[in-house]
Order: sequence, then C-alpha cells, then structure tokens
Amino acid sequence: MAQSHKLNLASQGTSLKALFSGYLMVVAVGYLMALVQIQLTHGLADGKYGLSVDDIVYSYYGNRNNSLLENKLSGSMKPMASDEDRAAIVTWVHQGATEAAYEGTGIKQIFEANCIPCHNADSGMPIPDYTDFKNIKERAVVDTGASFQSLARVSHIHLFGIAFIFMFVGLIFSLASGVPKPLKVTAIVTPYVFLIVDISSWWLTKLNPNFAWMVIIAGGAMAMSFAFMWCVSMYEMWIMPRRHNDDRDALLDE
Ligand code: HEC
Repeated sequence: MAQSHKLNLASQGTSLKALFSGYLMVVAVGYLMALVQIQLTHGLADGKYGLSVDDIVYSYYGNRNNSLLENKLSGSMKPMASDEDRAAIVTWVHQGATEAAYEGTGIKQIFEANCIPCHNADSGMPIPDYTDFKNIKERAVVDTGASFQSLARVSHIHLFGIAFIFMFVGLIFSLASGVPKPLKVTAIVTPYVFLIVDISSWWLTKLNPNFAWMVIIAGGAMAMSFAFMWCVSMYEMWIMPRRHNDDRDALLDE
C-alpha cells in the first residue's frame, strides 16, 4: 500500500515527476532556442556577433544617424546651406521626413533656395532631381527600428506565451518544500514583474534609446528566476529523495 505523504515534489510518484520533468526539459530547450534566436536576430543588429546595448538600440530605436541626406549634409553638401537650414532638414529627417511636414514647415523652401538650383533635371549633373519629392524621401529614410505594428504583435505573443510558461514552471516550483517562503514568493513573482518591465522597455527603447539597459536587466532577471525554479524543482524531484525522506508540506508548512 502506498504510504501517505505530504504535498512536496520529493514525495510524488514517478509518473507525476516524469510529467513535470518532461515539461521542464522541453521549456528549457525552448528557452535556449529563444536565446539562440535573439543572438541571430538582435545580436547581429550592430554588425557584430554577441548581444550588446547597441544591438538593442538598433533593433528597437533604429540607427537614426544613417540617412544619406544627413550624412551628405555633414559631408560634401555642408557648404550648400546655413547651419540653421541644415539643422532644420536633419530635424525633419529625424521626425520621419513626411511630405506634410516638408510642405508645411518650411523645409521645401530650404530645398528650393539651397539645393534645387543644382538638384534638378536640367542641371546636366548626374545627381538626383529634388523637384520630385520621392527622390528626397528615398534619401531621408532613416532606420527607426522595429515598427509599432511589429512591436504590438511580438508583445502580445510574448505576454500570453511567457505568462503561460511561468504559470507551469511556477506551479511545479511551488511544490518545492526546501525554499524559504520569501525567496519562493520572490522567485515565483519575479518573472511576471519583469515580463511587464521587459515588454514595456521595448516600447520605451523605441522612443528613447536609453531604455535599452532596461531590456537587458529585465531579460536577465527573468532568465535567473527561470533557472532557479528549474534547478530547485529538478533537485527536489530526483536528487533530494535519494538522500532523505521529505515530510514537509510545501504548500502548508511554509
Ligand atoms: C552647387 C550644386 C549643389 C548644390 C547647391 C547642392 N548639391 Fe547636393 N550634390 C551636388 C553634387 C555635384 C553631388 C554629387 C557629388 C557628391 O555626392 O558630393 C551632390 C550629391 C548630393 C547627395 C547625394 C546624392 C545621391 O543620392 O547619391 C545628396 C543627398 C545631396 N547632394 C543633398 C543636397 C542637399 C540637401 C542640398 C541643399 C542643402 C544640396 N545637395 C545642394 C551638387 C549640389
């Protein structure tokens, strides 16, 4: 006859432990795959292997120094307009280079006075014709990182998916009997708090590159609590019972 036992990981039967362990193994592999994927997408954003703060800035905020128009205005086209006018063009580029702002905020006049005298179809020079807005726009495109649309898509998938993973990892871990209550509650709650911080920090980084650090800290905190709950659960299921019986109740005698 089976002995009556307390509610803890160590005293569960082999089938429940096998179920829990199978799940934990698969989500751990999933976690590793996610890290590989991060390296291969975001990790290469700055052109170098390995995830850095620059990668996160480029992925979410974009590399906004990179429009041709801006580079030329601080390079060979620098003498063509006053500091003030060049600054106005650069600001317009950073704000998205819309046609409405081109027409409405005096940028068009700057181009007409300073650039179009050369940059027109009849100049005979092999240079783009700026009487056609399309030709300006093409040179004003800056990399503004992930679109709001893709952020919204990835955010909701992450929120639902990761909340689900941590529900089960946390449920299994809540049956561990050897962890002091404050530590246990902290480990269970941390991934949820930092999931929200992580997703918020993507949106904040899109607006301001200084938030890239928050992405890294939140990701690190989630990974640490995952690793902690995973290791403790596996230890209490497979290693601890070989050493001694566990008669504590994980849910009641905390
Ligand atoms: C005196 C004639 C002249 C004026 C005025 C002039 N440009 Fe140019 N621009 C050129 C020439 C010539 C080139 C090609 C050589 C080069 O890239 O430096 C060029 C090239 C460029 C390019 C790179 C074109 C490409 O797509 O390869 C950009 C961008 C540009 N100019 C922007 C401007 C802007 C903005 C202004 C106004 C503030 C301006 N230019 C005023 C003569 C002019």
